[in-house]
Amino acid sequence: MINRLKVKAFSTIVLLLQVSSGFPQEPVDLDYDYFKDEVQPIFLAKRDGNVRCVQCHSRSSNFRIQALEDHQLFFTEEQTLMNFESASQFVLPGGDPLASRFLTHPLASEAGGDPFHGGGKHFASQYDPEWRVMADWVAGAKKRREPSSVQVRIVQTNAASDTSTIIDPVTNSVIGKITDIEIPHGIVGAPDGSQLYITNESMHSLDIVDSRTLRVKRRIPLSGRPNNVAVTGDGSRVYVAIMEMPGTIDVIDVTSMKKIKSIPVEGAIHNVYVTPDSKYAVGGSIQTRTINVIDIASNELVWTLEMSSGIRPMIFNTNPDGSTKNIFVQLSGFHGFAVVDFASRAEIARIEHPPALGQKAHYDGLQGAPAHGLGVSPDGKTLWSTSKVYSTVYIHSLPDLVEVGQVFVGQHPEWVTFTPDGKTAYIGAAGDHVTYAVDVATMKTVARIPVGQVPKRLASVYMAVD
Ligand code: HEC
Repeated sequence: MINRLKVKAFSTIVLLLQVSSGFPQEPVDLDYDYFKDEVQPIFLAKRDGNVRCVQCHSRSSNFRIQALEDHQLFFTEEQTLMNFESASQFVLPGGDPLASRFLTHPLASEAGGDPFHGGGKHFASQYDPEWRVMADWVAGAKKRREPSSVQVRIVQTNAASDTSTIIDPVTNSVIGKITDIEIPHGIVGAPDGSQLYITNESMHSLDIVDSRTLRVKRRIPLSGRPNNVAVTGDGSRVYVAIMEMPGTIDVIDVTSMKKIKSIPVEGAIHNVYVTPDSKYAVGGSIQTRTINVIDIASNELVWTLEMSSGIRPMIFNTNPDGSTKNIFVQLSGFHGFAVVDFASRAEIARIEHPPALGQKAHYDGLQGAPAHGLGVSPDGKTLWSTSKVYSTVYIHSLPDLVEVGQVFVGQHPEWVTFTPDGKTAYIGAAGDHVTYAVDVATMKTVARIPVGQVPKRLASVYMAVD
C-alpha cells in the first residue's frame, strides 16, 4: 500500500514536470494491473536474436527488473510493485510516446527509437504488438485495446521442437510461430480468440500465449508433467492432463490465471477432453486403462470405465439435444477404435481398420499406439481415425460407422482437427514434419504444409489480430 502511494505521488511529480515543460496533458494514472498482466510478460519473453529484458535489467542499470528465483515462473506481488515503480521512472504518462525512454530505448532508431540501447533493439516498429502493449500502458490504458479482427487459425505443436506453427487455413500457408516452449504438447484456444493454452512438458507448466504478440504471457505451475489440455465452451476453465501416477487432472481458472484444483483420478492421464456440452471433462489413462469422467459443475470424478488396454485419443458425438452420445476411443495395441455408450457407461462396439489400399504396413516407432488421432467432422456426419501403421486416415459415416474413405496422410499421422466450417481437416504427420490439409467433401489432400520437428497435436482456434 505504501509503495502504491509512493508511485502515485511520483507520477504526479512527473505530470507537473510535463505540464511545465510544455506538454499540457490530461492527468493520466499508470495502471498497476495492466502493468502486471500485460507489460511484465514482455520483460520475460524471448524474442528471436534478443536476450530477455530481465537477464540484464535484474543486475545493473537504472531501470530495475526483479530477478525470478529458480523454478519461479512469474513475478510475485512484491516484485511487481518494485518493477512498476522502476518502469514508471522512465515514462511520461499520457505524453508523446517518443518522450518515454522506456519506449524509445528498445525501439529501432529508424522507427523513432533512441540511437543506442545497451540491450539492443527489440521492436522494429511502433506497430509491433508488444511495443503497443507498452505504449498503451504509458498512455494510461487499463485494459487491452480491442483487436481489429479475429481469425480462424490452425496451430500445430511440434513435439520435438521449441516451436508451434501457425497456419492460415484460407491460404494453407505458415503465417507465424510460437517460440520459447520446449516440448509443447497440447494446444487449445480461448473461444474469444484472445489467447492460446499450450502445455509445456519441459517446465511442467500451462503456458498462456497472447494471440496478438505470439509471446508466452504467463506460465502456470502444474502438479506434474502435463500431456494434453482442454477448455470449456465458455472459456472460463482449462483442464490439464497430468501424466504422472497416481493420477491428477489440474483445473486452471482463466480469470485469476491460477490452478484452482487438482482432481484425483484413477491413473496418470494422457489426454483430457471437455465434452461438446461442456458438462464433463474426460481423461484417459494408458497405465490403468481407465476412462475418467469428471462433472465440471463440481469438479469431482463421477464415473470410470476400465477398457481392455491403455486409453489413447478419444472423441465424442452428440444426441440431438447436444448431450454426449458416444465416446470413440483408440486403445494401446489396437488398430482401430472402440465405441462407448455414454449413458450406459459401457463399450458397445469395436471397429478394426483393414489394411489400407495400396499402402505397406510399417511398425517402427509406434509407441504402443498403432492408431492415434480421432476427429468428428463439425456436421457430425463422419468420424476420422488415423493409422500410423498404414499412414492413412480412415473415414467412417456416423452414426452407422461404415467406412466411406481412406486418405494417405504421411508418416505417423497423430492428430485430427477441422476448420469450424467443416470444409478442411488438418492432420499432423509426425514423421514427415508436415501438416496435411484434406478437403472433407472430396476426401483429397489439398496441401502439405511444412512445419517443425515431429508435429503431433494440432487445433483449430480463433486468434485476435491487433
Ligand atoms: C543485453 C542486456 C540488455 C537487455 C536484454 C535489455 N537491456 Fe535495457 N539496457 C541495458 C543497458 C546496458 C542499459 C544502459 C545503457 C543504455 O542506456 O543503453 C539499458 C538501458 C535501458 C533503459 C534506460 C534506463 C537505464 O536503465 O539506463 C531502459 C528503459 C531499458 N534499457 C529498457 C529495456 C527493455 C524494456 C528491455 C526489453 C525489451 C531491455 N531494456 C533489454 C541492457 C539491456
